[in-house]
Amino acid sequence: MDFNVKTGDPDKLRSACVVVGVSAPRRLSPAAERLDKASRGQLRELLKQGDIDTECGKTTLIHNPKGHIETARILLVGCGKDKKLSPKAFAEISSAAAKALQSSGATEALSYLTELVVKDRDLAWKAQRTVEASRDAVYRFDELKSEAKPPKHPLRKLGIVVSDRDAVNEAKEGIRRGIAVANGVDLARVLGNRPGNLCTPSDLADQAMALKKAYPAALNVQILEEEDMAKLGMGALLSVSRGSRQPAKLIVLQYNGSATNKNPVVLVGKGVTFDSGGISIKPGAAMDEMKFDMCGAASVFGTVSAVAELALPVNLVGIVPATENLPDGDASKPGDIVTSMSGQTIEVLNTDAEGRLILCDALTYADKFDPDVVVDIATLTGACVIALGHHATGLLSNDQALADELLAAGRTSGDRAWQLPLWDEYDEQLVSNFADMANIGGRSAGTITAACFLARFSKNYHWAHLDIAGVAWKSGKDKGATGRPVPLLMQFLTERARDKG
Ligand code: BES
Ligand code: MN
Ligand code: ZN
Repeated sequence: MDFNVKTGDPDKLRSACVVVGVSAPRRLSPAAERLDKASRGQLRELLKQGDIDTECGKTTLIHNPKGHIETARILLVGCGKDKKLSPKAFAEISSAAAKALQSSGATEALSYLTELVVKDRDLAWKAQRTVEASRDAVYRFDELKSEAKPPKHPLRKLGIVVSDRDAVNEAKEGIRRGIAVANGVDLARVLGNRPGNLCTPSDLADQAMALKKAYPAALNVQILEEEDMAKLGMGALLSVSRGSRQPAKLIVLQYNGSATNKNPVVLVGKGVTFDSGGISIKPGAAMDEMKFDMCGAASVFGTVSAVAELALPVNLVGIVPATENLPDGDASKPGDIVTSMSGQTIEVLNTDAEGRLILCDALTYADKFDPDVVVDIATLTGACVIALGHHATGLLSNDQALADELLAAGRTSGDRAWQLPLWDEYDEQLVSNFADMANIGGRSAGTITAACFLARFSKNYHWAHLDIAGVAWKSGKDKGATGRPVPLLMQFLTERARDKG
C-alpha cells in the first residue's frame, strides 16, 4: 500500500474517496465544513436527519455527493464529542476509517483526519498512526490458503492531506516511520502466524539470514548450533530442546547504526516454535496456539528489520534462543537438574516452564556484548493473561529509569505496558531443596516469579522483561498474531536514537 502527502481542498482534489471527521452533536471538521458548503448543505442535512453517526469510530459512506465536488465518495468518521481527541481515540478513528475504506469500493483515498486536534501529539505522530492503522486494516495471512480470496477492491493508495506546504515534511517523516513500523509488525505477524511445522528453529535461522541479505552492510548474523551451545555450557537451553528432533538454534543479529562505539541495546526474544509443555504436557484445548510461543523472537526480527529500514542511529543486538518443547523418551523430566551457562543449577520441576530456561542462558550470553540495556520479550506466563488480560504487556525491571522509558514508549505508540513489582519476597518462592533454584515458584504471582527467575541471570546490566503472553496474538474468530510489541520497541529505540545519539 502506498502513502503520500497532499495539500488542497477536499472539494477540489480528485479522488475515489475523501475521509473527514464529524463530532457530536453536529460539529463538522474544517474539511467536512468545506464539503458541506460545496454540496449545498448535504452533510448538515444528513446530520440533521440522523443519518450520520458521530460516535467515535462509527463511519458513514456517501456516494456521489451533490454539488461541485470532485470526489466520488465521502467517508465520514465519527469523532465523539471531545474537541481535543485522546491519542487512543485518534487511533480508533484511523483504524475505523481504514477498515471502512477497505470495504468501500475505493482503491485510493484522501484522508483529512490529520486536521483533527489530538492532545499532546503532533502531525508526524498522526501521520505515523494513520499509516500503522491502515496497514493493520489491510493485513492478511493467506500464504497457506490454496485459493486466496483477496478483497475485491483493496485499498492501494492513501493520500494524507495537510494544511500547508510547511507541514509536508513533517507528515512525510511520520509516514516514513509508520511504514517501517508497519513492515516490522507485518514481519512479526507473518512469523507468528506460520504453523510450528513451517516455522521451526531452523526456519527462524533462515529468516535471520534473509534479513542479513536484505541489509548486508548494516546487519551481521551468527547462528550458534547445539554443539556451540554445549561448549558455552548452555545446559538450561539445551535441556528444553532434548525432546525435539529439530535442532535448537541460538540466533544473533547485530545492527550497527551508531557512528560511535556506543554500548548496544540488546533484545532477547523467546523463540519456542511450539510449546507442548514437554513431559509436563499441556491440556489439548487450544494447544495449537502454542505455535505463537515464538512471538517474542518474531518481535525481535520485526524490530531489527524496521530499525535497519529506518537506518536508526543506534547499536542493536537481537538474540533469539529458538527451540521446540516436546515430550520424548529423551526429553527432560520433572525433577531433572540442569546447569545453566552462568553456573547456577536449576531443578526443572515443570517442563512447561521452559521459556525461562532458554532465556536465562541467552541473558547470560547477552553479557558478552557489554550492553547498555537488555530487554527480553517473551510469551512467558499464562498468569500474565490473568493479571493484565489482552491489553497490556507485563513489564518488570531491575532499573526504574529503563522501566519508565519503556512505559512512556508504550503510551506514545499506543502499544502499552504495565509494570509489576520485582520484590525479593517473590524471589523466595523459587527455593529448591536440591539445586540453586527451581524453575517454578508456585501458583501465586506466576508472572513475577518468572521474572524473578530471569533477574537472577541479569544482575550485570540494566534489564527489563516484557511478558507478552496476553498481547502477542488474538484467539477466537480473529485468531492471529498482532505484531506487538514491535510498535513499543520501535518507539523506545527511536527516542533513544534521538536523545542519546
Ligand atoms: N508459553 C507458555 C505461557 C503461555 C501460556 C502464554 C498460555 C500464553 C498462553 C509458557 O511456556 C508456560 O507454559 N508457562 C507456564 C508456567 C508454569 C508451568 C509455571 C504457565 O503459564 O502455565
Ligand atoms: Mn510452557
Ligand atoms: Zn512457552
